[in-house]
Amino acid sequence: MSSEVDDAIAVKIEQSVTRVSKVIFPTTTNHHSTLFGGTALAWMDEVSFITATRFCRKRLVTVSTEKINFTHPIPSGTIVELVGKVSRVGRTSLAVNVSIFLEDMYSEGREEVIHGQFNFVAVDDNGKPTPLFEK
Ligand SMILES: CC(C)(COP(=O)(O)OP(=O)(O)OC[C@H]1O[C@@H](n2cnc3c(N)ncnc32)[C@H](O)[C@@H]1OP(=O)(O)O)[C@@H](O)C(=O)NCCC(=O)NCCS
Repeated sequence: MSSEVDDAIAVKIEQSVTRVSKVIFPTTTNHHSTLFGGTALAWMDEVSFITATRFCRKRLVTVSTEKINFTHPIPSGTIVELVGKVSRVGRTSLAVNVSIFLEDMYSEGREEVIHGQFNFVAVDDNGKPTPLFEK
């Protein structure tokens, strides 16, 4: 791949970085008063999809996810930020890393508490893999 193409892809990766912040209200928590895991996964799936779509502006389907570790509970009454960034670009597929950062409302600082990778494939009108970019 030429350096111009590499540069263009690097620009697209930066331009498609997607950040979404949310408050953890009781409507999204489980019986431990921490964020329900299924909700965290749904948010991560959505952020990764937005990131991937902004990157290539093609019709995409999720083909797989990598292992996702929940390393820290996310209590009700905190703030989280989800950050999605393209991490691999193939011919018809790409990968997006999504991190969830946890912040206390009333003190500075934050830590990464969940990280995952979502893999997408660009598809044509018949649902068949199609190149991410024209030649
Ligand atoms: C995604 C889908 C179109 C891929 O079709 P396929 O015939 O298996 O694809 P291919 O074997 O030709 O592979 C196409 C690309 O996907 C990649 N790929 C295939 N399976 C993969 C997997 N499990 N994880 C990561 N990448 C994968 C291949 O490496 C290839 O990448 P490249 O072109 O960048 O080198 C097909 O599996 C499908 O329709 N799945 C259902 C998707 C869906 O409904 N998702 C949920 C709702 S969005």
